[in-house]
Amino acid sequence: MSNSKADACNRLKELAARSPGLCIKDLMVEPGRVEQYSISAAGLHVDFSKHLVDDDVRSALLGLAESVGILDLAKQVFAGEPVNRTEHRAALHMAMREPSPDLDPETTNQIVAARERLKSVSDSIRKGSWSGSVITDVINIGIGGSDLGPHMACSALREFSDGPRCHFISNVDGAELLNLLDGLNPETTLPIVSSKTFTTSETMVNARTTLAWLKNSSKLARPEERCIAVTAYPDNARTFGIPTDQILTFPESIGGRYSLWSSIGLPVCIAIGYDAFSELLSGAAAMDDHFLSTPPDRNIPLTLGLLAVWYNNFLGAQSHAVIPYCQRLRLLIDHLQQLEMESNGKSVTLSGNQVETETGPVTWGQTGTNGQHAFFQLLHQGTRLIPVDFIGVIRDRLSNSSHHRLLLANMIAQSEALMLGASDENLHRHLPGNRPSTTILLDELTPATLGALIALYEHRVFTQAAIWDTNPYDQFGVELGKTLTGSILDGTGEHDASTLNLLIRAGLK
Ligand code: F6P
Repeated sequence: MSNSKADACNRLKELAARSPGLCIKDLMVEPGRVEQYSISAAGLHVDFSKHLVDDDVRSALLGLAESVGILDLAKQVFAGEPVNRTEHRAALHMAMREPSPDLDPETTNQIVAARERLKSVSDSIRKGSWSGSVITDVINIGIGGSDLGPHMACSALREFSDGPRCHFISNVDGAELLNLLDGLNPETTLPIVSSKTFTTSETMVNARTTLAWLKNSSKLARPEERCIAVTAYPDNARTFGIPTDQILTFPESIGGRYSLWSSIGLPVCIAIGYDAFSELLSGAAAMDDHFLSTPPDRNIPLTLGLLAVWYNNFLGAQSHAVIPYCQRLRLLIDHLQQLEMESNGKSVTLSGNQVETETGPVTWGQTGTNGQHAFFQLLHQGTRLIPVDFIGVIRDRLSNSSHHRLLLANMIAQSEALMLGASDENLHRHLPGNRPSTTILLDELTPATLGALIALYEHRVFTQAAIWDTNPYDQFGVELGKTLTGSILDGTGEHDASTLNLLIRAGLK
């Protein structure tokens, strides 16, 4: 650790030791608190004034950011440098929204060509001219990043959807897929098999079942010819039987959880059209630009990443709740769980040493107001420190004034209640308050503001990883479970007594 980073951490430890004296309510009356602790950019307004942070903590956190050179590291990501050091790759998600002038020309050309293909394929599906047939329904078959981003975006942007219906199958739970297929017309249904590797067992099994359904019910001799594949490994899709001209690709330097911006976004393009999809990319690019070029003290993702480090590493918080007050953003939580926990669930530094601090906290949540009637009790009176992100949409054309006013009033009241608490001599009724939250307001839920919101969280993840010196772009931890599943199914595994007993009871042995 550099001296300047060690100094910044020591300073933060000292400040954390006196943090029980920090009172958000008192900080709030300081002149200019809200103005200085709020930032607007890319259609988002972010209020972080309700945090256990005063000017001393803020400047120490900014010192920590400077000691690791976070914004310089972010510029390396944008320029396409091999920042994914454990896999010797770049991380090209920002380039997919807006290629950097520093990117090598061949990569830029590939990105432009992939976008043109995305446009022409989605246009022809929407116009009814794809392989000569009208498509009423699309099934995206994929899991993890090949499902969560596009599924979330399609639900969030329902207002803009004027194309064929998009369905998403991720789990290998056959009951889900068979139930979906039951209600679809095979003559007008287009399966998209989305898998970066095109080897993920759940996706391959779901795809084969869907092909069998197509074959049996529509008499297609070669149902693969009715499918589209989206993958970074086109040879694997060809081996599966998908014709070359129905395979959309993307670079292997795009991680699954960062792949919404690539051809993996095809279902979103089909649902809302390529122009609206381009606005999603532009909104994310606007947040990229804000992150890369705004001074640290007015930089939204940097600030939220630093706050996460403050709570996680200095105040001992173990989790972080995300509560969107918009039902159409329900799947944002699932998307952020993969983005945050697959990226930051690491214990080894980039140089191969065991980390000496805690890394990624647990991300969890539920939409408001549903969460209020489930777990908010714990947020208000439980023993744990859980910083909350409230996300609200100021104008919602799909709602009406009486509903929307009640929804937003609930959100703002909850952040106020967490901060204020309520004294009561009866301890059962006492709410301690002083519980921190960020409020993120979107002017409206549009492709552009959704893009900016997701990019904000991507950079928040990046900021934390940069401080911990971990790689947010690999995910080796998920491999062992996949290998053991394979050995259970092919009967080659040796098992401990508990596992063996469970396998026998489950009929797998
Ligand atoms: O198992 C985790 C994971 O590798 C994710 O990182 C990825 O998004 C998901 O599986 C799906 O992988 P693929 O797109 O290759 O099917």
